[in-house]
Amino acid sequence: MAAVLSKGSESARPDPRQLLLVCDAPPLLSYLHRFLAREGVRTTALNYEHAKLRVQRGLTPDLVVLHLNGNGSLGVLAELRLALPIVPIVGVFSMPDGKFAVDAHQAGATECIRLPFDLESLKETVDRFFCLTVSRRPLGEPVHETALTEDTYFVSASKRMNEIRSQGAMLAQVDLPILILGESGTGKEIVAKYIHKMSPRAHRTFLKVNCAAVPADLLESELFGYEQGAFTGASRAKPGKFEICNMGTILLDEIGEMPAVMQSKLLQVLQDGTFSRLGGRTPVKVNVRVIAATNIDIDAAIAARTFREDLYYRLNGFSIQMPPLRERKEEIPVLVEHFMRKLAPKFARQPITMSEELLDAYMQHDWPGNLRELESSVKRFLVLGSEQHVLSELSRAMSARGNAPRPVHTEAEGLNVSLKKRARSAMNEAETELIDEVLQRHNWNRRRAADELQISYKALLYKIRQYGLSPSRDANGRGGKVACL
Ligand SMILES: Nc1ncnc2c1ncn2[C@@H]1O[C@H](COP(=O)(O)OP(=O)(O)OP(=O)(O)O)[C@@H](O)[C@H]1O
Ligand SMILES: [Mg+2]
Repeated sequence: MAAVLSKGSESARPDPRQLLLVCDAPPLLSYLHRFLAREGVRTTALNYEHAKLRVQRGLTPDLVVLHLNGNGSLGVLAELRLALPIVPIVGVFSMPDGKFAVDAHQAGATECIRLPFDLESLKETVDRFFCLTVSRRPLGEPVHETALTEDTYFVSASKRMNEIRSQGAMLAQVDLPILILGESGTGKEIVAKYIHKMSPRAHRTFLKVNCAAVPADLLESELFGYEQGAFTGASRAKPGKFEICNMGTILLDEIGEMPAVMQSKLLQVLQDGTFSRLGGRTPVKVNVRVIAATNIDIDAAIAARTFREDLYYRLNGFSIQMPPLRERKEEIPVLVEHFMRKLAPKFARQPITMSEELLDAYMQHDWPGNLRELESSVKRFLVLGSEQHVLSELSRAMSARGNAPRPVHTEAEGLNVSLKKRARSAMNEAETELIDEVLQRHNWNRRRAADELQISYKALLYKIRQYGLSPSRDANGRGGKVACL
């Protein structure tokens, strides 16, 4: 996938089952091909050389079954793994020594089957991967997956997201500023990166500046740089993000939280591409494509005069409204599959098949944290391997919102509940203490604390509220917890 997509092309996969069968022994190749075809699996059967070539040219299977005929074939496996980093590859071989299986895993095989095998076990393996990867894909709407960076992808599998994909690819060709609106975790940054990747600026710099995370007094130098001696400690001149991004793309994230004074300076850059460094006299001219993103209600911010209307019109050459995940639930199975495939190698795990029950619970959940929340949930499922854990989490979240869930505990699980509860409450306690301690250290400067904790500003605000933390101090000078803020 990456070999193809990293060149900027995309793959549409309307067919829900696509297997690439690779084998250099023609009789075995045609024998397995005939069997898979009879079983209704859409199979492309190729020898080593042709398989490598087709993958280079864009073939993006959902599963690869590769016959390994000796050490030389491990090179083919490694090449396919490199080109298809998140596609499961099942290695089939007859080498008797156990070391070969280890080598095959090291070269990138997701799973190995030793020959001779009965065809049923091959079919069972294929079904298992397909069940995980494709069987629940929405039919009709094509699924697209574009690699943006090594581990960032833009997946779209609903009508609305495929429209955003087309708009993005079109807008990438014209240098208009773009405003991306949408709730947290809906993929605003992913779409910004996609637009950059599809644009003629793709080989130039893409930088993100989080306008909410950088303290107001530092934002100006961060964006526009400074001259030597501009302020105490400015021992030498430093270019800002706009200069670094010249000819590239800058993403001004959380633009709704940009301080007023910076808004006017930004307006000037958008008007004529010029600005001056802090303490500088000569104007600097740059050619930067500006994409801005926010999850605040921008109309309300304009009405409240915290956001300049003229800046809004400048930024809003075109706006993209990201739909929340609850409005494109048909994408959930595809996204689950995608996150599973993406995350499994990171945690040295095999992708796990999800039961209908868990998938149903996913479809019922409202996902207030959108794709970020879904990705975290899949990650926990993968790491802990416990459906019940994830089901309980979803169930708790639904109850917290007054949305009575259907019972999800089995009797067997009941035995574990108190242990799980305790583990969770110990984790919450540890988290509360850590957050409290970091907030105290930063004098309750939430942006700096969020930076140190490596979570978003919004996530920190949420946790402060969740744990009832406040700056009030007790006799020992420690921060306090209050019932509510
Ligand atoms: N279309 C998508 N395809 C694949 N992954 C996605 C997609 N959209 C979002 N994600 C995943 O969800 C995470 C959150 O996405 P992103 O950071 O783009 O959201 P955001 O809208 O910018 O959120 P915030 O407002 O909190 O900054 C990403 O790290 C990515 O892993
Ligand atoms: Mg973002």
